[in-house]
Amino acid sequence: MNHPLIIALDFPGRAEVEKFLQPFRGTQLFVKVGMELFYQEGPSIVSLLKDQGHHIFLDLKLHDIPNTVYGAMKGLARLNVDMVNVHAAGGREMMESAIEGLEAGTATGKRPACIAVTQLTSTSETQMQKEQLIPATLMESVLHYASLTKAAGLDGVVCSAHEAAAIGKQIGPDFMTVCPGIRLQSDQTGDQKRTATPEFAREAGVGAIVVGRSITKAVDPLQNYQNWIQAWGGVTQ
Ligand code: C5P
Repeated sequence: MNHPLIIALDFPGRAEVEKFLQPFRGTQLFVKVGMELFYQEGPSIVSLLKDQGHHIFLDLKLHDIPNTVYGAMKGLARLNVDMVNVHAAGGREMMESAIEGLEAGTATGKRPACIAVTQLTSTSETQMQKEQLIPATLMESVLHYASLTKAAGLDGVVCSAHEAAAIGKQIGPDFMTVCPGIRLQSDQTGDQKRTATPEFAREAGVGAIVVGRSITKAVDPLQNYQNWIQAWGGVTQ
């Protein structure tokens, strides 16, 4: 699980997931199950992926009062996934409750890694300042949330590759940076704003990259995945 490339399985249901995974049979992947898929299929999609031997990041971005997040995480821990997450904007107490919930729900001894979203990679600095009324630079906001996340005892953050090096310098190399918004030169950016190439991410010391549409919407997803692995540095999971 050193510097994984995590494939975002942003599909509407199980049938589409099974079709996408068919050419990957026999390859152990690190996949991300997000809201779109989990809200339709529920825990059974996690079981299916686990039975196929894949590592799972359950990306539900919890953001609620501490008591609710505690209960939700206690339940999610039972799904035995590798990684879960919350929004750092929920605050330190909420993040501490997330860890307590995970620990209470973990039967196997090792709780899932828990990371916090700092600022979504679809958020620009202007948007953050205007809509969230945060009078700081985007980098300052992300670094602040990263420190808060560390203080709450979480394992890392979701951020853009542009902030990863600064986070590593401020918090240290053991704190995970998981970066979506990664694009090949030839890709479209879509709704993402703070994008970066896999080469840039590697140079910046990013811990894991999350790649969605560039692989899932490719004409030949397996070939495209292999191109990505090469660009990212040859690490598969
Ligand atoms: O298709 P694309 O590569 O943009 O997919 C990125 C994935 O990462 C999506 O599943 C999205 O929900 C997720 N994500 C993100 N930005 C964050 C956190 C998660 O894009 N800050």
